Amino acid sequence: MRKNFGKKSWFYPLPVLIIGTYNEDGSSDAMNAAWGGLYDSDKVVLCLSAGHKTTKNIHAKGAFTVAFADADHVISADYVGLVSGNTEQNKLEKSGFHTVKSEFVNAPIICELPVALECKFLKETDDGNIIGQIINVSIDENVLDNTGHLDMAKFHPIAFEPANNGYHVLGERVGNAFKDGTALK
Ligand SMILES: Cc1cc2nc3c(=O)[nH]c(=O)nc-3n(C[C@H](O)[C@H](O)[C@H](O)COP(=O)(O)O)c2cc1C
Repeated sequence: MRKNFGKKSWFYPLPVLIIGTYNEDGSSDAMNAAWGGLYDSDKVVLCLSAGHKTTKNIHAKGAFTVAFADADHVISADYVGLVSGNTEQNKLEKSGFHTVKSEFVNAPIICELPVALECKFLKETDDGNIIGQIINVSIDENVLDNTGHLDMAKFHPIAFEPANNGYHVLGERVGNAFKDGTALK
């Protein structure tokens, strides 16, 4: 037996994206976005409400960064999803995040979050979604292995679990993509 829940935006895993933008005065804003993902192979899509400070900043500056919230920064990540830069002038300071300017786009990188996509605003779709072109991916050396690749034993991104409003850490490796299925060929 299965239980029906009707129309829900339950999707697994939903990311916890932290979107970094510059405000008009050059200070940084950050917000939490779960409704977003990869678009095509080299772009991202964000489903952002028009009234968010982040949305206005993306239009004004033409750029944003996407970082992946991790297990060490759950409180900061949730805070930037609860409070708007429209009303809290010190949002970034209060969040505990610090930023440096991206070398590639006019947007801030959040120092505490090790993986960032640096994106140029490409377009807004007819239904209001924001599409960004990935210009660069930068990763903090602290989460690289000794061959210079991302080490998932050191990087602990979290997912948003919408049925129970939880944050869950992505866990152990259970398989090899593009390989394990060959056992059944
Ligand atoms: C877990 C979580 C996920 C969220 N996902 C989105 C989202 O995908 N799109 C959106 O417009 N707002 C989303 N929000 C709400 C914004 O993060 C929130 O309104 C924030 O205050 C906007 O900040 P800003 O006005 O400084 O840009 C989310 C909040 C949380 C806590």
